[in-house]
Formats: sequence, structure tokens, C-alpha cells
Amino acid sequence: MSLPLAPETPAPATGTPPTDDPLSPRALRGIVRELAEQPERWIHLVRLSTEERWYRRLVAEADHEVWLISWLPGQSTGFHDHGGSRGAFTVALGELEELSLGGPDQGLLIRRVPAGTARAFGPEYVHDVRNTASGPAVTLHAYSPPLSSMAHYDLRAGGLVRTSQEGPEQW
Ligand SMILES: [Fe+2]
Repeated sequence: MSLPLAPETPAPATGTPPTDDPLSPRALRGIVRELAEQPERWIHLVRLSTEERWYRRLVAEADHEVWLISWLPGQSTGFHDHGGSRGAFTVALGELEELSLGGPDQGLLIRRVPAGTARAFGPEYVHDVRNTASGPAVTLHAYSPPLSSMAHYDLRAGGLVRTSQEGPEQW
């Protein structure tokens, strides 16, 4: 995700050493699902931005972090990785679409991700997430270890081509 730092975003946790023992995608999915079922913990924080996706970090632990993101219709991430972190996300409100490359014979996979569903992925995963619906969406995302970098890709005839890289200073 190419996300500018929102004014409300808390400073990253400091003094917490990086962990060598990341949480599993399944555990991360459990974290976002549990949080989605407790909207009283985050619904009052949600904002919408016509500029780009709005986001705020809800949890910053040594071994994982959780982000709250809102998406207006048409807002999208573009293809990106997660810098080697494992991750999961769930749609709490609205609906998103996720694009990823399948195996050699599968080509481009397009999944609907409606409210109440969750996706989890390993450290090599690359996807493009977009709101193609007619209303806003709100999502919860967990990463372990916490995101340290993200690369962006263009989808071309030969496959995904890395175009840029960003780090936490851009968030
Ligand atoms: Fe992502």
C-alpha cells in the first residue's frame, strides 16, 4: 500500500526489538477477525479521505501491527508486496476486490472480498486491493513482523515488474 502518514497515526513503537518469531498468517487472520467483531474499538476512529485511502495504526507490538484503513469507491493499492512480512486482512464494512497472480497456468486471479471475509498470506505475497464497489469500505490489516518496507509493481505482459520501494518513513 502506498500510504502517506495520516496526522492521527501514532508514532511507531520505539525500543522494541524486532522479533525473530513472526506470527503465522492464520494467527494474523484471527487477530483481524476478532478486532472486526469489536467495532467499538475502532469505528469512532474511521475517517474517509477523497485524496487517497485513509489509514491509522491501531496496534504496534514488537511482533505484529494492525492497521485500520478506509477506502472510497475507486481507491486502490496497486500491486505491492509486504517486505517479507506475513499478513492478513478482513473487510469489516463494504466490499473490496483483490487481484493476485496465480500459478503459471492460472494467470490473474480476481476475488471478491465482501464484509465478514478475511484473507491471509505469506511473506512472498503480492496483490492489488481495490474498492470497485459503489460505497466506502473499512478494513483491518495485521502484519508480522511489522512492515519494514513495501515494493510496488506494474503488471505487464511478462508478469510483475518492480517499480518502486518505500519504507516506514513514507507512512
Ligand atoms: Fe497488501
